[in-house]
Amino acid sequence: MQTAAGKLMKVFLTRRIPPEGMKILSAAGVCEVSQWDSDEPMQRADLLKGVQGAHGLLCLLSDKIDAEVLDAAGPNLKVISTLSVGYDHLAIDEIKKRGIRVGYTPDVLTDATAELTVALLLATARRLPEGVEEVKNGGWSSWKPLWMCGYGLSGSTVGVIGLGRIGMAIARRVMPFGVKRLLYSGRTAKDYAAEVNGEYVPLDTLVSESDFIVVSCSLTPETQGMCDKAFFSKMKNTGVFVNSSRGTVVNQEDLYEALSSGQIAAAGLDVTTPEPLPTNHPLLTLKNCVVLPHIGSATYSTRGIMVALSAQNLLGGLQGTDMPSELTF
Ligand code: NDP
Ligand code: DGY
Repeated sequence: MQTAAGKLMKVFLTRRIPPEGMKILSAAGVCEVSQWDSDEPMQRADLLKGVQGAHGLLCLLSDKIDAEVLDAAGPNLKVISTLSVGYDHLAIDEIKKRGIRVGYTPDVLTDATAELTVALLLATARRLPEGVEEVKNGGWSSWKPLWMCGYGLSGSTVGVIGLGRIGMAIARRVMPFGVKRLLYSGRTAKDYAAEVNGEYVPLDTLVSESDFIVVSCSLTPETQGMCDKAFFSKMKNTGVFVNSSRGTVVNQEDLYEALSSGQIAAAGLDVTTPEPLPTNHPLLTLKNCVVLPHIGSATYSTRGIMVALSAQNLLGGLQGTDMPSELTF
């Protein structure tokens, strides 16, 4: 597709993307692609420059797309395609005001993210990183009755905060471990929760009655900072906390205090504030805190599918046709 002046439309990619995405864009023959030719994030000034005059923008969750970026892009911008299901980095009100369409990547990463979250829960509850370290550092002296004990899922109560696509996929995966009760909280009760015998409860009930708490909600003004001192103080001392949503759902100072004082047993985080977490961050000094580098959706096949979907979303937006996954707002 060409502009009124007979030129190809301009799209800007804020990062190098895998070849399957580039192939889809070039095969369509409707756009001229320029990209930030690096695997590292762009500086803000480069983003503001690179996006100028673009008709389409393909971005990552680490790119903050706000009014300043939209102004820099100018009136040509028709579509923003993000390589993520989370869209808290996009200023949705501004985008909507300007009539720009948004594509995102729901569903295709649900299984990978749920799988990683369960892996993180088990690694945290059964102290896997600590155990591996003990083997390497000579701390493994003999089999001892209470050494390296943790907490198991069998007979436990699991609380899922945000029983959406990923939350439900996590619930499905933990139930076969012999979980006794599955509690969930969110804005509304879900009919589909019946499949996992999910009980819809107020957040306070979930926090105080769960042995394992998994946060899988989206980041919104209401969920920002939701897991704070008051939250952790209601958890069981044997409770295990896991977050694979967004880092700012958690107040990390309060989490550090809860973990170091024995208020809660352990925490597993796939997401932090900031990302990357500085290597001298206090949370990284704790044996009962397992931190991963935001790898929920990181399987080769999932990332390939996400890239293809975001390229197709971009093309749909450029051409004014259906997008396979358009965010409706
Ligand atoms: P969904 O939209 O399907 O689910 C989001 C859930 O959040 C909904 O069930 C919603 O509940 C719930 N929620 C919204 N507001 C609140 C609230 N105030 N309290 C409790 N729950 C709330 O999204 P997905 O499951 O596909 O993805 C969820 C999030 O996971 C993404 O937004 C992203 O941040 C994160 N993510 C992280 C990944 C990683 O690599 N770690 C990978 C992929 C996603 P309700 O329906 O009742 O409003
Ligand atoms: C998302 O999609 O929102 C994740 O955080 C990365 O896959």
